[in-house]
Amino acid sequence: MTTIMPSIEPSGERIVALCDKLALHSSQPDGLTRIFLSPEQAAASQLVLGWMRDVGMHARIDAIGNVVGRYEGIETGAPCLMLGSHLDSVRDAGKYDGPLGVVTAIECVRALHARRQRLEFAIEIYGFADEEGVRFGATLLGSRAVAGTFRPANLEARDGGGITMRQAMENAGLDPDQLPAATRRRDEVLAYVELHIEQGPVLEAEGLPLGVVTAINGQSRYRIEIAGMAGHAGTVPMGSMRRDALAGAAECVLAVERICGAVPELVGTVGSIETLPGAVNVIPGRARFTLDVRSPHDDTRRRAVGELLATFASICEQRHLSLSHHVMLESRVAQCAPWLMTQLEAAVAADGIAVRRLPSGAGHDGMAMIDVTDIGMLFVRCKGGISHHPAESVTAADVAAGARALLRFIENFRPVAAEPAT
Ligand code: GLV
Ligand code: MN
Ligand code: MN
Repeated sequence: MTTIMPSIEPSGERIVALCDKLALHSSQPDGLTRIFLSPEQAAASQLVLGWMRDVGMHARIDAIGNVVGRYEGIETGAPCLMLGSHLDSVRDAGKYDGPLGVVTAIECVRALHARRQRLEFAIEIYGFADEEGVRFGATLLGSRAVAGTFRPANLEARDGGGITMRQAMENAGLDPDQLPAATRRRDEVLAYVELHIEQGPVLEAEGLPLGVVTAINGQSRYRIEIAGMAGHAGTVPMGSMRRDALAGAAECVLAVERICGAVPELVGTVGSIETLPGAVNVIPGRARFTLDVRSPHDDTRRRAVGELLATFASICEQRHLSLSHHVMLESRVAQCAPWLMTQLEAAVAADGIAVRRLPSGAGHDGMAMIDVTDIGMLFVRCKGGISHHPAESVTAADVAAGARALLRFIENFRPVAAEPAT
């Protein structure tokens, strides 16, 4: 890696180089996999902790393993503008989904610190420990702890190796009983703003480096289990004597594609499937798969989930299989606050960049943070819209534009009191 020296303005090359350096902390030698509470994540967190301290922040690891840095304002103890993103990844991930938002925010603080500039509010940066939910099925665990919506039942969830989250926390030197200490009060936080790669093709298609997010699409995630009867692959005749759970699951997967494909802006994915006993010469007795359904409209998503579950039930009935489902995530559309969108747009436009508003199809920590404060997001164009894949790519020029916009947004940030709930 070439070393790019810090300057008084955030450098796109430096931010990309720091993300690349973080990506070396991976459980996979030839790519990036960094999951919640893993040794690789602990090492990446230490690196980020050091970068935060280098730019004049007080930095610590909180009760769930989030890295938290604070840059005081003119008056010590003032409420903060919260920035950041996540430090965990999916399996065989790209290098910028998450880390880009953390590193860019740190480099903005570096610029302020270099100019000895303090603001009327503090800045806090979070590197959330779990957004992707790869390890324990439940997602947004880092930001939910901060928002106070972490469900204690999640501590008993087990990873693929049978380790509970409680055990994994203890193994990582964290005390599950201290989790409430990670929660932040509403009056401590003025807003949460996240810079993130777009993870979609819109900005590239329109020739724009940046976009201002209007809302994060709602999501429903389920674990579906189908039970039939295992049997001998060589002796049970084809037809009604077989109760093949995988054949039923396959029909369900195609129903997801058909039903979700028929509704504009609705997406549905079966991302993981497993069969038991899982042998070449045994008819599958059980099949388990995940379902992920998203839409910019909550009612559309809920209707689709209802139709999918009814369709799965009728497929299973016809095949004499039994069906059960378990909700992993139910998250409504998270609207970005108009006042934050306006301030982000002003920061983008000040660089002569046309303002493009767009929704986020991907999930983000703002979905959790919205329970504690108003949220805003700035998207940076990525190559081919590719994400959750090693080919994820950004240009230093686009990253520099994002960093300039974020820094300008921070410098001009004016908190707007939240509307009283009606
Ligand atoms: C997170 O990246 C998600 O959208 O699933
Ligand atoms: Mn992701
Ligand atoms: Mn992400």
